[in-house]
Amino acid sequence: MSKYFARVHFRNRAFSCLLPLVVLLSSGAVPAGAPPAVRPEVSIKWRQSAFQVIAWNTARIKAALSRGDLQELRIASTTLAALANSGLANLFPPNTAHGKGWRETTARSEVFGDAEQFRAASEEFARESATLAKVAGGPDLAAVDAQFAKVAKTCKACHDKFRQTD
Ligand code: HEC
Repeated sequence: MSKYFARVHFRNRAFSCLLPLVVLLSSGAVPAGAPPAVRPEVSIKWRQSAFQVIAWNTARIKAALSRGDLQELRIASTTLAALANSGLANLFPPNTAHGKGWRETTARSEVFGDAEQFRAASEEFARESATLAKVAGGPDLAAVDAQFAKVAKTCKACHDKFRQTD
């Protein structure tokens, strides 16, 4: 008999521990539809991966330009434009100023201290890459070359200000 009461008592205690959580979840304190939290190291991995794929495609564009390979230029420029326009700046939330993804982040503190400027630099990259994809759809190699130089300038401008390079 006393065993039975002990169990009921335990259940009630367990429930009263959970109660604040139940109230919190049903009170709207955790907004419905909020994106699930991404762990900081995951955001850092994603952005480092994105930049590696970006570097792969800029290397493809350079090689295709020197061979005059129009089809490869189209594929690599479209891929680059998609990545540049994918919302890269969202992979730099404030809790990722320090930490390790595939490696220690090389983002400078300015990314987080001057987030508006960083977003502007990333939009510039997105715009120039979209133009590159458009120009690469045509047969004018000199125009593609000139537009690719503009894209490369946006990489360098952003790295100079926002990335630690050694
Ligand atoms: C809006 C700013 C910005 C632009 C534009 C930009 N980058 Fe970066 N890039 C960064 C930052 C910041 C990092 C550091 C990411 C980290 O380690 O967390 C980085 C990292 C990298 C890395 C290293 C990734 C790794 O494995 O750690 C490569 C490679 C790279 N960028 C290439 C490029 C190329 C090529 C372009 C242009 C075609 C470009 N980036 C455009 C800001 C930018």
